[in-house]
Amino acid sequence: MNTSATQTLGTNAKDLRTAAALLGAGALVAFPTETVYGLGADARNAQAVAAIYAAKGRPSFNPLIVHVSDVEQAKRYVQWSDTADGLARAFWPGALTLVLPLKDGHGLSALVTAGLDTLAIRVPSHPTAIALLHAADCPVAAPSANPSGRISPTSAAHVLDGLSGKIAAVLDDGPCTVGLESTIVGLTPVPILLRAGGVSAEDLETALGHSLGHPPGHPLGAPQSANITAPGQLASHYAPAAHVRLNARAARGDEVLLGFGDIAGDLTLSATGDLIEAAAHLFEHLHALDKTGRPIAVAPIPDTGLGLAINDRLTRAAAPR
Ligand code: TXA
Ligand code: MG
Repeated sequence: MNTSATQTLGTNAKDLRTAAALLGAGALVAFPTETVYGLGADARNAQAVAAIYAAKGRPSFNPLIVHVSDVEQAKRYVQWSDTADGLARAFWPGALTLVLPLKDGHGLSALVTAGLDTLAIRVPSHPTAIALLHAADCPVAAPSANPSGRISPTSAAHVLDGLSGKIAAVLDDGPCTVGLESTIVGLTPVPILLRAGGVSAEDLETALGHSLGHPPGHPLGAPQSANITAPGQLASHYAPAAHVRLNARAARGDEVLLGFGDIAGDLTLSATGDLIEAAAHLFEHLHALDKTGRPIAVAPIPDTGLGLAINDRLTRAAAPR
């Protein structure tokens, strides 16, 4: 975690280059979007993405939205569809996030999607966000730039209130115009409203030409159109198929061991016991060990800092299903 002073940058060309260089170096930069300020990191850099969770102090991993400069960039990371194209034409750039299946060879850190095989992606309309995405020339993962449990920031001052000293820089370009997070629509493949936000459901339905589904369990119910999405498919968390045993000092029987610190294992989350590195490796290593088809034993992880989020994820993975 960066504990030095947080730079406040403006929107001139030099400051944008500074912000882009910081992102390129794996640092965290908060930036304005039309909805709320985002806490950005290079979405391909697992350590940088792990640092987002550390800065926010989140006790669990939630998949993040990846921000790109245009539809062509989006197509590098997700399996595009006609419905996606229609919604993008109507609402991008803007306050709409689409959840689509990840594309092979996407190159993003597994921590961005929290191990899921779908990706939330959007093209923001804020000119400073777009300028930063062009300058950085990378996909930018960004949750709202607030500490966990606090309200979303709509000014650079809000960002500094919560995250000063924990991030490299904030790009200050005044208040956000929408002031509400983006609307999230799942397209896997039936359009489902996953989060209400800056684009109204009515406007989405007009663009789609039919009504939107709601996730099972949603107060508005799951209409016919959503029925092909089984509740399990909507679970927002990846879980390994294998049996998982926690707090293991050594493998037993057929197990593969995921190490940490002194406990080496078949793969290690971090040989030096660094929790940010451990978070960066977590989903990649779980996927890799899951592919062996053998049960997974996991070394003890301390319950401090990012260890809380790691243990939250591991506890869910180990829960009987
Ligand atoms: O307006 C916004 O969307 C802002 C700005 C910065 O773009 N970002 C934002 O991010 O609100 P965040 O992390 O606070 O919210 C992201 C939401 C979470 O509720 C997460 O569960 C959901 O997106 N999400 C991300 N990836 C997903 C996926 N693959 N499937 C379903 N939901 C996903
Ligand atoms: Mg948020």
